[in-house]
Amino acid sequence: MKLLAGLVRLDVFLYFISLIAAVQAFFGGGTNNYRRKVSLELNPDPSGSSNISVLHVRAVGSNDTLHFLWGSQGVPTLLLVHTDSPETRVQIDWARMLSNNISGSLTVEPASAVRYSTAFLFSKIWEYKENSTDQSQAAADSYFPPYSLEEFTWEDLNRTLNHSALTAELCGRNQSQHRGRVCFQISAFESWGRDPAWPRLLHNANSSQLRFLIEGVTPRSNRSRFALELLSIDSRDHEAREETHRSIDDEYTPSIFQVSQLVSVHVNSSVPVLSYAQWKPVAYRTASPVFEDSTPCRHSPASPPLPPPRLGLALAFFGGALDQGYRASAVNISFGIPGEPFYNVTGYLSWSCLLGLGSPPEDSFSPLVLGIMVVGLGTPALLLLVGGAYVCVQRLRRQQPGYAPIN
Ligand SMILES: *[C@@H]1O[C@H](CO)[C@@H](O)[C@H](O)[C@H]1NC(C)=O
Ligand SMILES: *[C@@H]1O[C@H](CO)[C@@H](O)[C@H](O)[C@H]1NC(C)=O
Ligand SMILES: *[C@@H]1O[C@H](CO)[C@@H](O)[C@H](O)[C@H]1NC(C)=O
Ligand SMILES: *[C@@H]1O[C@H](CO)[C@@H](O)[C@H](O)[C@H]1NC(C)=O
Ligand SMILES: *[C@@H]1O[C@H](CO)[C@@H](O)[C@H](O)[C@H]1NC(C)=O
Ligand SMILES: *[C@@H]1O[C@H](CO)[C@@H](O)[C@H](O)[C@H]1NC(C)=O
Ligand SMILES: *[C@@H]1O[C@H](CO)[C@@H](O)[C@H](O)[C@H]1NC(C)=O
Ligand SMILES: *[C@@H]1O[C@H](CO)[C@@H](O)[C@H](O)[C@H]1NC(C)=O
Ligand SMILES: *[C@@H]1O[C@H](CO)[C@@H](O)[C@H](O)[C@H]1NC(C)=O
Ligand SMILES: *[C@@H]1O[C@H](CO)[C@@H](O)[C@H](O)[C@H]1NC(C)=O
Ligand SMILES: *[C@@H]1O[C@H](CO)[C@@H](O)[C@H](O)[C@H]1NC(C)=O
Ligand SMILES: *[C@@H]1O[C@H](CO)[C@@H](O)[C@H](O)[C@H]1NC(C)=O
Repeated sequence: MKLLAGLVRLDVFLYFISLIAAVQAFFGGGTNNYRRKVSLELNPDPSGSSNISVLHVRAVGSNDTLHFLWGSQGVPTLLLVHTDSPETRVQIDWARMLSNNISGSLTVEPASAVRYSTAFLFSKIWEYKENSTDQSQAAADSYFPPYSLEEFTWEDLNRTLNHSALTAELCGRNQSQHRGRVCFQISAFESWGRDPAWPRLLHNANSSQLRFLIEGVTPRSNRSRFALELLSIDSRDHEAREETHRSIDDEYTPSIFQVSQLVSVHVNSSVPVLSYAQWKPVAYRTASPVFEDSTPCRHSPASPPLPPPRLGLALAFFGGALDQGYRASAVNISFGIPGEPFYNVTGYLSWSCLLGLGSPPEDSFSPLVLGIMVVGLGTPALLLLVGGAYVCVQRLRRQQPGYAPIN
């Protein structure tokens, strides 16, 4: 009897725990409703002689502003600047931006309002010929000379700007490359949500998404695969950590049970996360993929701290301090694993990545999974509860005469 009552209590306890977890997950601990007022502004080269421009995504919160600056000069770079005032401005000195000395040509004013800044650089695309899977011909993957994104010529961003959807697309090609192109599609967000396209990454108002694609490029071998080198630049007081989390919920990204991220944290501490790049280890081999078009990705461990490259918007903003106060960390993300079809089959690859400030969004259980959980855990609990109550009532009834006054 006591055992049964104990079991009932344990089950009720578990039931409430799961219910609380469910409610919390559903509302994301109360942060999911954070909104910003987001606007896109293009700052083109005023001389009009080049396609160089800086895309400024201004995300104003109640008491702060996030500036996301995206530009192709030097190397495609996303610069993230957090200021603690809703009225900070971005200033570009175009004469210097277009000169050989770009250092210090981009400022956020007033400088005293800048709380934190970091930059992500997309520096190289590696192409490699996968080694033979045939055990008898064991050989290492062989790398071709990489495509250096520094040498690319980029198309006009203005034509791709969509102010209502908050998107833009930067496409370019290597001078010597006659076919194909490489693009970065950037999306900014006013609030929490999920991208409609696979891998359906979660986002929030403190993040923006880049979708990277390699389209129609002639591979240098029939066994070619590609890899992208991503560099993060942050203060020397902060360190980069690359981590992979398991996720049991694959409802949004079929068959992918992992989320990978490169986070920046204070040296020797794991919280708070200052900024991150987050992605799912999957790429797609067609523009409108079906399940069979997905292909797994791998990434290298994060490199030890490197001297940051003196390039692009990172140099324009950090200026001379880049050499002394900053470090870079690199990861290679390679698309496709042995056994998967090679690039030559579709001539297309897309991969998405979320870049943002603060803690990366975490996939929680979806409403569907939650429903299954609540029903699965709740029904037995409810049955036990009702059964227990019934047994108790029966026992009380039987005990009733015992308490009756003896006449
Ligand atoms: C976004 O940043 C603001 C200000 O730093 C913070 O209050 C908010 O919780 C963040 N939102 C999310 C979803 O992280
Ligand atoms: C706005 O920021 C200032 C300084 O960072 C702080 O003192 C103030 O409490 C904040 N106000 C709100 C409404 O968050
Ligand atoms: C580049 O410009 C900065 C700021 O004006 C200056 O301090 C630096 O000496 C210049 N560097 C070169 C190589 O001219
Ligand atoms: C191919 O290279 C990978 C590492 O690049 C290695 O793990 C694998 O054993 C190699 N396969 C063969 C057959 O040599
Ligand atoms: C990119 O273009 C440059 C200049 O034309 C050339 O030297 C280089 O080999 C090209 N790179 C690739 C990977 O084709
Ligand atoms: C500018 O972009 C357009 C297409 O958007 C391209 O045709 C043109 O060659 C580019 N110009 C330069 C100087 O790169
Ligand atoms: C950008 O394109 C729009 C129309 O598509 C045009 O009105 C505007 O002048 C262009 N801006 C620049 C800076 O080229
Ligand atoms: C901007 O995006 C929206 C939503 O995706 C679309 O309906 C609209 O046609 C786009 N506008 C332009 C100018 O491409
Ligand atoms: C790739 O395969 C096709 C068809 O099998 C062949 O015609 C072509 O020569 C191969 N290309 C290379 C670079 O090996
Ligand atoms: C792609 O490469 C594979 C492996 O070498 C080859 O069998 C196939 O014919 C190639 N496909 C095309 C479309 O070139
Ligand atoms: C971080 O850890 C290293 C090695 O454990 C130590 O030397 C260093 O003093 C620590 N730094 C801080 C700020 O705690
Ligand atoms: C990325 O791959 C290239 C080619 O194998 C290698 O030279 C480079 O060191 C790698 N970078 C990282 C961060 O692993």
